[in-house]
Amino acid sequence: MYGMVNKAVEELVCLHHGEDVWQRIKDRANVDVDVFISNEAYPDDITYRLVGAASEILGQPADEILIAFGEHWVLHTAQKGYGQLMLAGGRTLPEFLSNLPNLHSRVAMIFPKLQPPRFECRDITPHSLRLHYYSHRPGLSAFVVGLMQGLGTMFHTPVTVRLAIPKGDASEPDVFDVTWSTTSAT
Ligand code: HEM
Repeated sequence: MYGMVNKAVEELVCLHHGEDVWQRIKDRANVDVDVFISNEAYPDDITYRLVGAASEILGQPADEILIAFGEHWVLHTAQKGYGQLMLAGGRTLPEFLSNLPNLHSRVAMIFPKLQPPRFECRDITPHSLRLHYYSHRPGLSAFVVGLMQGLGTMFHTPVTVRLAIPKGDASEPDVFDVTWSTTSAT
């Protein structure tokens, strides 16, 4: 994954636990990179090792870390670093979700080595939809939960996300039920 992902993990850990803890996590993960370069592609394995080591050192389940990371990604990394792309996604949560399938195609214009996830929105109602999330990467469904929660906060729209059908194999999607309140959408 591009270095911006590992940088964001670093930022999240340093924000809550400080640089010493981040150094311990890198040591535990056997990651010998001083500074991650945002627009350089790194092996996925590095990101997985960092999250695994963070889970061990912080004594928190990896899924909890991935949820926090998803929220941080939307509310800090994406909004600050890629604000225009996020704005172009829509003005409300349902609008943004319906445009989600196209978002990473735009990102891929800037980052040509991107191996993005694929999203499909199904069964759309005024207050819910089913999100199909395809990825060749395993174990990231909790990250998607955090991303949805971050988007709810970003749009001041209370949202609930539930993994309804976990994927069986790599070619299948994880299917999430996403439900939001229609009263407080801005
Ligand atoms: C403009 C903002 C965004 C940028 C620049 C961005 C960029 C990226 C990058 C660089 C990766 C790593 C993949 C790689 O390097 O090959 C990634 C992965 C991912 N992104 Fe985004 N992204 C953005 C917004 C979002 C949003 C709003 C969602 C919400 C659903 C999302 C969902 C994901 C997921 C689930 C992955 C994990 C990779 C996988 O499943 O295979 N991204 N994104």
